[in-house]
Amino acid sequence: MERLPGFRDFYPEPLPHPDVWSADARQFIFNQWRATARSYGFREYDGPPLEPLELFTTKSGTEIVGQLYNFKDKGDREISLRPEMTPTLARMVAAHERNYKKPIKWFAIPQLFRYERQQKGRLREHFQLNADIIGENNPAADAELIALSIDVLRSFGLNAEDFVIRLSSRNAWQDFFTGKGGQPEHSYDFYQVIDKLERETPENSQTKLAALGFSLADVNAFIQAGQPTVELQAILDNLRARGLTDYVKIDYGVIRGLAYYTGVVFEAFDRKGEFRAIAGGGRYDNLVKLLSGGKVNLPALGFGMGDVVLLELLKARGKLPAFTAGVDLFCLVEDESLRPESLALISQARQAGLVVEYCFTPLKSDKQFKRAMELGARFTVKLERPAEGALTARIKHLATRTETVLSPAEVTAHVTRQP
Ligand code: HAM
Repeated sequence: MERLPGFRDFYPEPLPHPDVWSADARQFIFNQWRATARSYGFREYDGPPLEPLELFTTKSGTEIVGQLYNFKDKGDREISLRPEMTPTLARMVAAHERNYKKPIKWFAIPQLFRYERQQKGRLREHFQLNADIIGENNPAADAELIALSIDVLRSFGLNAEDFVIRLSSRNAWQDFFTGKGGQPEHSYDFYQVIDKLERETPENSQTKLAALGFSLADVNAFIQAGQPTVELQAILDNLRARGLTDYVKIDYGVIRGLAYYTGVVFEAFDRKGEFRAIAGGGRYDNLVKLLSGGKVNLPALGFGMGDVVLLELLKARGKLPAFTAGVDLFCLVEDESLRPESLALISQARQAGLVVEYCFTPLKSDKQFKRAMELGARFTVKLERPAEGALTARIKHLATRTETVLSPAEVTAHVTRQP
């Protein structure tokens, strides 16, 4: 049986086939995401992977609605797998915001599902770090979030030569739009054309813009000028104080596809322009109000960073560590009469936090040793019964081949001490 197109199998390394994904690399990415978000004081939340269809058809915009994995459940409910986390977050916040001091700073690592055309960097399922701040209007919150997105990418060893945050603002575009006489009912269509500029031919963009009363030349001149708004300047100043100027640029070529964004928006791209967006986000000050039927009104902003493009980029830039089984200690059982004592030693070492392996059944000692080598164990240990006196433990450091004889009780400390 084949897996569905656009879905992935994750195997432990070493990978058996180029067509599968690394469970170790995925965990590595999740660990960095979590650690960096935590260092900014963000707390982790999660929601259900299945939601009422209506949650996503209300305000995400037509593009994402066309990509929903939706169906009727056995209770005749219209439901959908989540294509993104933001509506779930807005729903959760609206339900219990009184229990939390503002600003709320939360993160999640959901698996998301979009029925997209499968292509490089785009699958039908992906994981996404979501980090959001709720209840703060000041651009200091936007700067904090952008700094977080930069530090997440820096935590993987990427730097300003590898990626850039393209910073833009729907407010700036809104001013352009109304300044040129745009009609409010056309603003979403206009944003959609701007969002697709880099993926469309100039002729097609020109035709679509003309239908809305705009010219491509005016649009391009506005992008080229790239004058920061007061709000964007405040964010740039904030990031400068953190030494992050090299990681951001004002770029009105970005406007974001999702319908709910209201202010500052941004996307992270690799500098060479080889890959799709690594991350994207912005302000969505009306979404909580909309999804709560007007009951809760809180400004909000956030970003999502997917694992697919990030992994492609880390591979291309050689930033992934080597993944091993991470075995600290391999217990060789050469004398079967010492298996119970060996199991006791294995158990103690595991309790102390070491990764310990051994063979379940009697095996020739060279086979056991071969297995220890295959697993890349740091140490082997073998219990021995001397002619007289207490049991001893013979420990071998496999990198240096040095042997030490200790009492079994000293094994764990010895392995913990040495790299
Ligand atoms: P988004 O731009 O749709 O934003 O997705 C964010 C990131 O998720 C993209 O930059 C990309 O790395 C990754 N991604 C999206 N779709 C796919 C796909 N089909 N396959 C692989 N990776 C993908 C949002 O989802 C917003 N809800 C983010 C947000 C959070 N805004 C505010 N808070």
